[in-house]
Amino acid sequence: MTAIRAARTSDAAAVIALWRACDLTRPWNDPQADFDRALGHAAATVLVAEKGSAIAGTVMAGFDGHRGWIYYLGVAPARRGEGLARRLLDAACDWLRGQGCPKVELMVRDGNDAATLYRHLGWEPQGVQVFGRWLAR
Ligand SMILES: CC(C)(COP(=O)(O)OP(=O)(O)OC[C@H]1O[C@@H](n2cnc3c(N)ncnc32)[C@H](O)[C@@H]1OP(=O)(O)O)[C@@H](O)C(=O)NCCC(=O)NCCS
Repeated sequence: MTAIRAARTSDAAAVIALWRACDLTRPWNDPQADFDRALGHAAATVLVAEKGSAIAGTVMAGFDGHRGWIYYLGVAPARRGEGLARRLLDAACDWLRGQGCPKVELMVRDGNDAATLYRHLGWEPQGVQVFGRWLAR
């Protein structure tokens, strides 16, 4: 049975290894800092799917007071196709609902066919462009 639970500080290495295996890391993001910030913030969480002591999937969620956002959805290559992403997304949405969050959004990098999965699971394109600006690096 694969259970979903909140990540602990001690999960950092396994979670970051999974992010790397899922090609979710980018040179401009420090995954350890991303993990630490999420666990250190009351309005953010990282959830993991775990079987035995092996972490098979992750998702990060945060509530900014207006919208919930989801990041770092990844499932270990050997565990794909079992419904873990669906369960992780449901768990992230439940967590956000518990924060009083009315709507959740997520971003998909250009070229990632995960967009097909999100459409399949009922997520709708939002028709927005995303702009970013660094505040600290
Ligand atoms: C995308 C990813 C998280 C999917 O994980 P997964 O555990 O295999 O997905 P699930 O088994 O929960 O699939 C859920 C549903 O989506 C469907 N699905 C899965 N991948 C899909 C894809 N690439 N395109 C279309 N549908 C897909 C499944 O068939 C399933 O539908 P069903 O329940 O009706 O049969 C996984 O492939 C992954 O880690 N990819 C690399 C990281 C990534 O791109 N993350 C998303 C960042 S935005």
